[in-house]
Amino acid sequence: MARSISQFFIFAGFALILSYVCFASPPPKVSTIHVKSGQSIQAAINTAQPGNWILVEAGTYHEQLTITSDEINLVGLGAILVPPSSPQTNTCSGLGGPNTEAGICVTGSDVELAPFVVEHRKIVSVGRTVKNVLITGFEVRGFSGENIAVVGAENVQVIGNKLVDGDQYGCLVVGSSNTQVEGNAVVSNTNLRFISVCVDNSPGIQVSSNHVSGYVIGLCVQTSGADIRNNDVVNSCTGAFVDPGVKGAKLTKNHISNANATCTAIPGVGISGITIYGASDTTVQYNLIEGLTAGGLPGQTAVAVAILDTATDPVLLASGNIVTKNILRNNDLDIFVFTNGTGNVIENNQCSTPEELCA
Ligand SMILES: *[C@@H]1O[C@H](CO)[C@@H](O)[C@H](O)[C@H]1NC(C)=O
Ligand SMILES: *[C@@H]1O[C@H](CO)[C@@H](O)[C@H](O)[C@H]1NC(C)=O
Repeated sequence: MARSISQFFIFAGFALILSYVCFASPPPKVSTIHVKSGQSIQAAINTAQPGNWILVEAGTYHEQLTITSDEINLVGLGAILVPPSSPQTNTCSGLGGPNTEAGICVTGSDVELAPFVVEHRKIVSVGRTVKNVLITGFEVRGFSGENIAVVGAENVQVIGNKLVDGDQYGCLVVGSSNTQVEGNAVVSNTNLRFISVCVDNSPGIQVSSNHVSGYVIGLCVQTSGADIRNNDVVNSCTGAFVDPGVKGAKLTKNHISNANATCTAIPGVGISGITIYGASDTTVQYNLIEGLTAGGLPGQTAVAVAILDTATDPVLLASGNIVTKNILRNNDLDIFVFTNGTGNVIENNQCSTPEELCA
């Protein structure tokens, strides 16, 4: 009893200090904007001040959203975003290829993009980054490019959204620092689409606890030091692909299983869990990769973890990659290493094939 009373006084004293700290400076102006079904979300974004919360009520909104101002908190409360009848042009137009549009485009100002070659346009320069934006609780459906794209931004959080049938990408982050993509369901239901979540040139990126399904590439890692953890990838071809030249990516505690059977019929695409392709110093630890199989098709082998040099010029060697403490089971082949790279460490994995790498 005496103890709990003294705890109460400590707590009360702490609250006093807190309220003193809070009221010593004028309270920040935080206001909330409500968007109702039938109203325009973009209109709310355009009038929002830094720090505002925009709460979007349940309904289907036929809009493309562009966020270029700082400290916008966009919250969906049962809101579904679908493409408008005619596309709007913004920085993300054409990002994922000619005639593609993003559902939500978070973008800095004066962003210069390189012409489209493959996959998506690269960032050349950013005039001013957009900072501290949160997008949560939305369902974004069926955009031709990305359901959500983050381009030339800082401290953006994409958390707890449902991204459905994004044709080129569910979520693409390019040239943005300290982005967090967490707890989203990024799924393609109607056919196998291109890339679910991709992080290109975005230092400090974290991609965690997402559920991915129905993509040729589940997680595309094009950022050195990217932190990819606790994601669950099913019904896809490649769980995670670490691109040539990427250094020090960390893939931990991901679960990759149940590949889509049609992957074996797509030319140049097989089934794999984690592929390290000409990347170095990757850490692959505590992942569970299971049940990946090409179903005995001649000439096809599903591999849980593959370490490869690039097959085309310039040849980049896969060196210094560490694959430990993973559980790899019921795959055609658990580990495949084909590289002239040095310093790759493959040990302490629970697996069976090939014996010499799993011992
Ligand atoms: C492959 O994935 C697509 C997209 O989710 C799905 O429509 C299709 O049924 C899947 N195919 C198989 C054979 O599982
Ligand atoms: C390693 O390099 C040699 C010589 O260039 C080449 O013949 C061989 O195919 C390479 N091995 C791999 C695994 O790339």
